[in-house]
Amino acid sequence: MRPTDASLDAHTAAPTFAAGPLRVDADRFLTALRGLAQIGCDPQGGITRLGLSAEESRAREFLEDLAAKAGLATDIDPAGNLLIRRADADPRLPVLMFGSHIDTVRQGGWLDGAYGVVAALEALTVLLETGVTIDGFEPVAVGFANEEGALVQHPFWGSRAMAGLLDADAEKAVDRAGRPAKDYLPAAGGDPERLAEAAWPAGRIAAFLELHIEQGPVLERLGLDIGVVDGIVGRTIFACEVSGEQQHAGTTPMRDRRDALVGAAHLVAKVESLATALGACSTATVGFMDVSPNTVNTIPGVVRLNAEIRDTDTTRIQRSERLLASMAEQVAQVSHVDVDLRVCDRSAPVLTDPGLRGVIANAAESLGLSWQAMPSGAGHDAQVIAALAPVGMIFVPSKDGVSHAPGEDSDVRALVAGADVLVTALAALLGGGSPESDLEKTREDLASIACRRLEGRVGA
Ligand code: GLV
Ligand code: MN
Ligand code: MN
Repeated sequence: MRPTDASLDAHTAAPTFAAGPLRVDADRFLTALRGLAQIGCDPQGGITRLGLSAEESRAREFLEDLAAKAGLATDIDPAGNLLIRRADADPRLPVLMFGSHIDTVRQGGWLDGAYGVVAALEALTVLLETGVTIDGFEPVAVGFANEEGALVQHPFWGSRAMAGLLDADAEKAVDRAGRPAKDYLPAAGGDPERLAEAAWPAGRIAAFLELHIEQGPVLERLGLDIGVVDGIVGRTIFACEVSGEQQHAGTTPMRDRRDALVGAAHLVAKVESLATALGACSTATVGFMDVSPNTVNTIPGVVRLNAEIRDTDTTRIQRSERLLASMAEQVAQVSHVDVDLRVCDRSAPVLTDPGLRGVIANAAESLGLSWQAMPSGAGHDAQVIAALAPVGMIFVPSKDGVSHAPGEDSDVRALVAGADVLVTALAALLGGGSPESDLEKTREDLASIACRRLEGRVGA
């Protein structure tokens, strides 16, 4: 398969790594994945395992049990992230980290996040069972807490805590029911007083790999096995409050109204136009709206909504933010409402590491799998960990591109194939290859970047 990305050309030669292709134990892996999918089963459909909820805690316990049975050591950091290591892990080695998130959106699917975490646990188990040489890097699997931000509206909570990027307000972060962190974080194994201690120093992580379902239709349409992610979109999330006047729906003449929901509806259309008519960003969505008082015979007085925009280009995101701010002013004037629009979260677009892309592509080829380089339209913990270390991502096809919905699914052979690519890429990075090979160069680059970061040298 030809790469779409020229930077991968150098890595398409036959694999040179010593460990060769490895395979996960498909039955054990799928049983664990299906077991995790039982936690948070929503009677209304799909899985609701919101970040920092009781369901997310039960999922952590489920994974801890599996890890203990495999003879691995586990730890939960003050932010609620689950870390899984060899029982005799060498704390002096820079870490090769891999994993994804444990939480889901409301009525989400069984694979978003969970797939990458269970595969990480399985990969670590296989690496140890196979006796892969661990030379230079310590393998650590991770299950991040609250990536989605569906309950506690701090998306990428766990990975940001690890990268030292949780904002100063995190300890005060309330969940959608208004409970403060001191009420929900201890139950998740975390500690609101020690959140800062979840941060890893620069240079401790030499590289991070995340395996994930694509969540879109590209790989399935092209009939490809694996996506080698070359970049991840950035996103700005807005919190918006539209205020009008709550009034009687039968007696208030149309011309006298200040209907907050009519204003909000205009704003929703404007948000959509950013990515359609204006082409200013790649996607623009309003996914949350709360109408007050939300009764049939009352003109709505207040509407709270969240909007988000995404693109791979920071300049386009910034321009879209400005456009939306002026659109909000227009809506306020035309609909006679007040519109308070605030940015509540920004995540930057990132590129994955070319060396790691090559290792992933070679791993896929050694397993006889087809692949292509591609961008990710979804956000991922990897883009946050990119502030700490070079990152790589592996995608497998999603059925009909469905995600963040109960119908999210992938062929089990595709799921196993992705996990095989993960374990093969990890074995390559851990064990190395022939001198002078691309793999050895990548390993040296990773070790040297980590070392320069540890020493605090600028530009590392
Ligand atoms: C993460 O799931 C996202 O919204 O992209
Ligand atoms: Mn998601
Ligand atoms: Mn995800």
